[in-house]
Amino acid sequence: METLKLGFIGAGFVANFHATALKQVRGADLAGVYALKGAEELAKSATASGLGDCKVYPNVAELCKNCDAVAVLAPNFARIELVEQIVEAVKAGAALKGVICEKPLGRTVAEAKRLVAFAKEVKLPTAYFENQIHMKAVKNALAQLAPQQRVMGPIALARSAEEHAGPHEPWFWDPTQQGGGVLSDMGCHSIAVSWFVLTPIGKPVTFLKPVSINAETSLLKWGRPKYRKELLDRMGVDYGKTPAEDFCTGIVTFRNPDTGQLVKAQFTNSWMYDKQGLRLLMDGLGPGYAFEVNSLKSPLEVFIADVAAEAVADAETALEKATASRGLLAVQPNEPDLYGYVDELEDARGAFLAGKDAFLNWEYGLEITRLVQAGYLSAERQKSIDLADPAVQQELDSYTSLIAQGKGAEILCK
Ligand SMILES: NC(=O)c1ccc[n+]([C@@H]2O[C@H](COP(=O)([O-])OP(=O)(O)OC[C@H]3O[C@@H](n4cnc5c(N)ncnc54)[C@H](O)[C@@H]3O)[C@@H](O)[C@H]2O)c1
Repeated sequence: METLKLGFIGAGFVANFHATALKQVRGADLAGVYALKGAEELAKSATASGLGDCKVYPNVAELCKNCDAVAVLAPNFARIELVEQIVEAVKAGAALKGVICEKPLGRTVAEAKRLVAFAKEVKLPTAYFENQIHMKAVKNALAQLAPQQRVMGPIALARSAEEHAGPHEPWFWDPTQQGGGVLSDMGCHSIAVSWFVLTPIGKPVTFLKPVSINAETSLLKWGRPKYRKELLDRMGVDYGKTPAEDFCTGIVTFRNPDTGQLVKAQFTNSWMYDKQGLRLLMDGLGPGYAFEVNSLKSPLEVFIADVAAEAVADAETALEKATASRGLLAVQPNEPDLYGYVDELEDARGAFLAGKDAFLNWEYGLEITRLVQAGYLSAERQKSIDLADPAVQQELDSYTSLIAQGKGAEILCK
């Protein structure tokens, strides 16, 4: 079996998740890591766990020279400079078969467009990592219900939520670095997975045409004085000055270009979900059939009494963003697989070795960025945004939300 030698740029939270996922992918090694922090530890644990002879490289150019494909797993604010360096490395002779970028592709439409142009310039196949579309639960639900869909008609309403109690690193909280708040960070997942679920079986991922978006952004918890101070003390980010939304919701309407049917994607995201830990919730409703996914429903529960709680070393080994280490706890024994990381890596490996884009490419990532940014525009204007209007598309090309500009107080603290 042919092996793809992968290189990671970034060695933080998501890079470690992908390294764990990669253990479940055949024909792929983690051959190298370049990161400002954490590279040595990641390379050591990857080598120890049989992912190949993983080396630390001092820069992007050296990593690219020694790998078949690289994955940009660094913070959103570093995308442009890193992809620019990848493109330079390819021009200098690095024989890359593909490049991966984590969500969101860009903090603005303009940024996402630049990334697409960079990859095109050197004809580099791309993968946009939106793990939720690759979740086995979602793919299975659609496969199980394919006969019903064919006979009764497609899913007409999809609802999706991703929620937890708040991100793990300061840069996520800083809207000027991250590109916004929870809509930019997690709304991109929920909008993408619902668009996918609504797409009639066998049609391409952008088959349904976006018609309109109506969204709200709010600051429900982390703007309150007590929690604002906690955030400032813990993360060094001042939501008194540069707040971001910790809650968003909205509806995207899509049109089926063959039948004219309108279908709806409802999304809800929050950084104030003070329950067990990360929850992904998706459902799809078609005529006479439905499905529901809830990532907190696990076949495994453990109970830890107060007297035994001291023995718990790390609650996050049970569940991503876990907030409790005692009581009745949900444990997901294989989170990288549950959340779709294994399948998206497998897909990228196969595509790059075949010389083509992954199932989700950067052009698709750009479309998701457009929808997310249109969501911010809708929330700012407090009105529905017409996504079929060329003037709106033109406006989005140079749009940076007030929240991402650090002026979130104008709309969140009124
Ligand atoms: N698919 C998902 O569900 C998911 C989950 C978490 C994060 N992400 C995405 O993955 C990306 C990384 O997030 P994370 O949580 O791992 O962040 P993190 O802060 O935990 O880790 C970032 C890593 O990148 C490194 N880094 C920072 N700037 C760099 C630069 N200029 N050059 C090289 N390395 C640099 C850091 O040293 C660190 O190793 C983000 O874009 C985030 O949106 C996706």
